[in-house]
Amino acid sequence: RRTPVLHEADGPYVISSYYDIEALLHDPRISSDAAKMTATGDDELSEPETTGLPPSFIRLDPPEHDRLRRIANSSFGPPHRPTRIDSMRGELAQIVTDLIDGFGDARQIDVVDGCAYPFPVTVICRLLGVPREDEPRFRAWVDPIVAGLDPDTRTSAESERVAQEARLQLGMYLNGLVEQRVKEPRDDMLSDLVNSRGPDGAMTTMEVLTTAVLLLIAGHETTVNLITNGMLTLLRHPEYLQRLRQDPILSVKIVEELLRYEPPVQLLPQRTCITDIEVRGVTIPKGSRIWLVLAAGNRDPERFKDPDRFDPDREDLQHLGFGSGIHSCFGAPLARLEAQIALSELARRLENPRLVEDPPPYRPNAVLRGPRHLNVD
Ligand code: HEM
Repeated sequence: RRTPVLHEADGPYVISSYYDIEALLHDPRISSDAAKMTATGDDELSEPETTGLPPSFIRLDPPEHDRLRRIANSSFGPPHRPTRIDSMRGELAQIVTDLIDGFGDARQIDVVDGCAYPFPVTVICRLLGVPREDEPRFRAWVDPIVAGLDPDTRTSAESERVAQEARLQLGMYLNGLVEQRVKEPRDDMLSDLVNSRGPDGAMTTMEVLTTAVLLLIAGHETTVNLITNGMLTLLRHPEYLQRLRQDPILSVKIVEELLRYEPPVQLLPQRTCITDIEVRGVTIPKGSRIWLVLAAGNRDPERFKDPDRFDPDREDLQHLGFGSGIHSCFGAPLARLEAQIALSELARRLENPRLVEDPPPYRPNAVLRGPRHLNVD
């Protein structure tokens, strides 16, 4: 409230009010293009080099962004038939059931390692069409890559070497899969991507690889954190855990409110002004870096009544948890479904769960917020 546009020395312009963030996310004068970005001393929040591939559409502006997103979307969520995501509902529930069965009768379980972490990567494998027998290999490559995105672990030279090797192996593996799908298309997203022939033309092999890796990276830790932040919040608000156990449909409202109250993506640090702009009387000069603090916008008292209260019964379940505008989360329907299924199954299956440690240990990451472990007994 006091400083909706915060700027110090050479740092970025930090925007924290709901309405300003929403407006800037729709403003064509703000670029997401990696090539237009200037270093401003906030490099600890930049993504490390993840793949050696060209930038994916999350780091491109129109028209390239729009073309690639439209092609990807024609497989992910076409308007004219039930989406690939809808048809995966039963499969998602089975994956979660199998993971929870894996807890056995352990007295103490870690919701992160046992369920929230392995779930999204298995889902992406099924979505892309990675054969079941290759899933363990695929997961083994993804683990060090995701660890390499974590500022806590990415500093060690050994972990960087392992992540680098895993990126190479994953890239070669996906390339092989792409070649197979060109020759022999199947009913999976990779086949759709390589064989797309709509008004936007086809993706090149490189674009397909970049898009596959984007889905994997953008949809992994974010979803892990939504499920884990969700379970933590429910354990702190046991009345909702109890209601969810009796009424799984409540998961729809719970997940929306979680995306406001405990958003996995706290801030977007990758935006640049391509011309001078004015926000609340402050002139932000061309070339400046802008951080949009989604988590602050989500608790803006100008926009939400009683913003610090977790209340899935709010009439208006709006939030900035998936961003907004042209880059708003591509995977939102999948992320919502994954979290709804995981949270309602965890609520149903865990008997009188109790937090072992409150607060649990967190990953020290300013962009992605979520516990490293969530032990319950
Ligand atoms: C974009 C959040 C899950 C794929 C975004 C953005 C946010 C976000 C805030 C906007 C980024 C920006 O404006 O720069 C989340 C959260 C998730 C989640 C909180 C889970 C709870 C997923 C999943 C996938 C995915 C499961 C894929 C399967 C993407 C992609 C973009 C994106 C491809 C880029 C969209 C574009 O540039 O047009 N996500 N995401 N996300 N997300 Fe998600």
